[in-house]
Amino acid sequence: MSEGLRDKVIVVTGGGRGIGRDIALTAAAEGARVVVNDTGAGLDGAPGDAACAQSVVDEIKAAGGHAIADTHSVAEPGEAEAIIAGAVQAFGRVDGVVNNAGILRDRMFWKMSFNDFDAVMKVHLYGAFNVSRAAAQHFREQQSGAFVHITSTSGLVGNVGQANYAAAKLGLVGLSRSIATDMARAGIRSNAIAPFAMTRMVLSIPGLDTPEFREKNKEMAPAKIAPLAAFLLGDDAREVSGQVFAVRGNEISVMSQSRPLKTVHDARGWTQETLANRFLPNVKSTLYSLETTNEVFAGEVI
Ligand SMILES: NC(=O)c1ccc[n+]([C@@H]2O[C@H](COP(=O)([O-])OP(=O)(O)OC[C@H]3O[C@@H](n4cnc5c(N)ncnc54)[C@H](O)[C@@H]3O)[C@@H](O)[C@H]2O)c1
Repeated sequence: MSEGLRDKVIVVTGGGRGIGRDIALTAAAEGARVVVNDTGAGLDGAPGDAACAQSVVDEIKAAGGHAIADTHSVAEPGEAEAIIAGAVQAFGRVDGVVNNAGILRDRMFWKMSFNDFDAVMKVHLYGAFNVSRAAAQHFREQQSGAFVHITSTSGLVGNVGQANYAAAKLGLVGLSRSIATDMARAGIRSNAIAPFAMTRMVLSIPGLDTPEFREKNKEMAPAKIAPLAAFLLGDDAREVSGQVFAVRGNEISVMSQSRPLKTVHDARGWTQETLANRFLPNVKSTLYSLETTNEVFAGEVI
C-alpha cells in the first residue's frame, strides 16, 4: 500500500487560496505536516487578506491534520529563507516544496510596464528560486526531497496579453529541469505541473465569469490538481524527475520538452539566398503556428 505523504513536511506557497489550498488540504490528508504559506495578496500582488493561510490551517486542523501558517512573501530571498526555517523549526525537517504562489498583471506587450514585468517575475520565477534555494541545502543534507513547480500553458504554449507571466512560467520549467539534473545524485527530484482550474485567476479574464462558463467548466476544479502534486511529492514517484505535466479536470498530460524537430545541413554554410530558397521551404511544414492554449486544449473538460 502507498505510504502517501506520511510524516513528510511539505511547504505549499500560495496555499491560502485556489490550487495551493487544495494541494495543502490533500497533502495533510495524505499524512503530511504542512506549512501553508500565503501573503494573502490581491490578484495583482497588492496587499489583501493575510488571514487566508490561517483559515486553511484551521481547516486542516479541524480534519485532524497538522499545519502551520506562514505569511512571508516568496518574492524576497530573506523571507523565503524564513518560510523554510519556519518549517524546520515547527516540524524538524522539510521534505517537499510546492512553488505555487502567483499573481497576474496581464497587458498587451506594447503596454506592459517594467513594473508589471518585474512584479510577475519576482513572485513566479524569483519566488520559486528563492524558496527552492532555501530548501536545497536541507534536501542535500538529508539526501532526499521533492520540488513541484506550478507552471502554465501560457509559457509552454502561449496566451495573449501575458508576456510577463509566460516568460516567468517558461523560466520556471528551465529552473525545474536544472534542479532535477543538478540534484539527481542526491536523490532529489523536481517536476512541473501546468494546471487548468476555475480560480480567481481564470475568472478574472474579462467576460469569463458567467454562469454558463462556470457550468461548462465545472469539472475544472482546483481540487483536480492536488492528487498529482501530492503523488509527485511522495516516494511512489521516486523515478519521476525533470518532467512537465498538464492537468485539466480528470485529464493528465505529459507535456513535450523541446528537441530538434528537423535539421537541415549545408556544407557550404548558409547565405540569405539559400536560407530563403532552400532552408525555409524545407522546414516550413514543421514551423509552429501562433495558436494559443485555448486552441491546443480545445476539447470539452469531462
Ligand atoms: N487557475 C489556473 O487555471 C492556472 C493555470 C495555470 C497556472 N496557474 C498557476 O497556479 C498557481 C495558483 O494559482 P490559482 O489559480 O490558485 O490563483 P489564486 O490567486 O487563487 O492563488 C494564488 C495565491 O498565491 C498567493 N501569493 C501571491 N503572491 C504571493 C507571494 N509573494 N508570497 C506568497 N504567496 C503569494 C496569493 O495570495 C494567492 O492566495 C499560480 O502559480 C498560477 O500562476 C493557474
